[in-house]
Amino acid sequence: MLLVETVEKKYRELFNNEPLLVRSPGRVNLIGEHTDYNMGYVLPAAIDKAIYFAIAPRSDDKAVVFALDMNEVFEFSLDKLQEQKSDKHWPNYLMGMVDQLLKAGYQPKGFNCVFGGDIPLGAGLSSSAALEAGLGFALNHIFNLGIDKLTLVKLSQKAENEFVGVNCGIMDQYINVFGKDGNVLRIDCRSLEYEYFPFNYKNVSIVLFDTGVSHSLATSEYNQRRKECSQGVNIIRKDYPDVKSLRDVPVDMLNKYRPKMEPVIFKRCKYVIEENLRLLDACDALNNHDLKKFGSLMYQTHEGLSKDYEVSCKELDYLVDLTKDNPEVYGSRMMGGGFGGCTINLVENHAINEISKTISSRYYSKFDIKAKIYATKINNGTSIIKTKENAAV
Ligand code: GLA
Repeated sequence: MLLVETVEKKYRELFNNEPLLVRSPGRVNLIGEHTDYNMGYVLPAAIDKAIYFAIAPRSDDKAVVFALDMNEVFEFSLDKLQEQKSDKHWPNYLMGMVDQLLKAGYQPKGFNCVFGGDIPLGAGLSSSAALEAGLGFALNHIFNLGIDKLTLVKLSQKAENEFVGVNCGIMDQYINVFGKDGNVLRIDCRSLEYEYFPFNYKNVSIVLFDTGVSHSLATSEYNQRRKECSQGVNIIRKDYPDVKSLRDVPVDMLNKYRPKMEPVIFKRCKYVIEENLRLLDACDALNNHDLKKFGSLMYQTHEGLSKDYEVSCKELDYLVDLTKDNPEVYGSRMMGGGFGGCTINLVENHAINEISKTISSRYYSKFDIKAKIYATKINNGTSIIKTKENAAV
């Protein structure tokens, strides 16, 4: 049975009425890491791994949510959400979303919901954004709230910032909502404008190697990097009041400030500024169908993330190293926030099995961890799944 069918079946069992079915995907990011909260560029894509929601309104102000994969139920009422925060993680993403809708003046009512999916947790594929934006999208639909896509993105990000307490940028929620089959999306995180770039290579796939490591310091280190970047900006801004973020700082300008910055702050800023330039080069490479060039930029990104931004870990570094000098791998780098999760790799299709075997066995010998490997396909952003029952939707 398809995952979505299992979710729907469970919904019917529990609530015995007709749900709306929504698919909310995970994401990869090809290049442009830790640039979103520095007002730079990112290049993500929505993928074929997703969370599925079956959902319908209730007549009161209560929400009853069943998490299929955890076999857990959580109930909350739509007022005083802050007081209902949960020790389990997943309900907070959902309550955070409802909280933002209410704060923005929308009026969702109570609902019943079952969700489940195949986005691996803690692998850096943004299952949290999929929960937030997926629920927001579904509530928008069932209560006719009239929220446009960009507003939904911003509210979902705020849910994570304010309710969950992770100071994330806008990339994950943005791609969740705007993803498009066969395309990567270049988002300008300053203007919030975007452009699709076709990414449709018959012979090459996006393959993820999962370290199986989820680092407990990830959130605090993430927030720390944000602080370090703004410290850099503040130093430069004393002389250049127009500089609002690292996006406004050319390399030459940064270099002038090197003596005035602690070395660690300089390194962080340097990485971000270079990464934005790399991303623009990478988009040129895509326009020229030059995957070799694109891949070599990915390796440079990894180097920067590992040495200058210091958000990698030995497991990620090792997985990237294993791909080097392998002509069937165009590029490889750590992806997402860092300290664990996956590397993203561009690999010739015919070589995927062989390379996966070699890498898994070497990784296992070194770390005693079985690396999971996912070949992914680019897919659409959050959308309604049409079934026979709701074909008219
Ligand atoms: C996490 C955050 C994103 C982004 C990436 C790093 O996925 O949620 O906003 O900052 O890390 O690029």
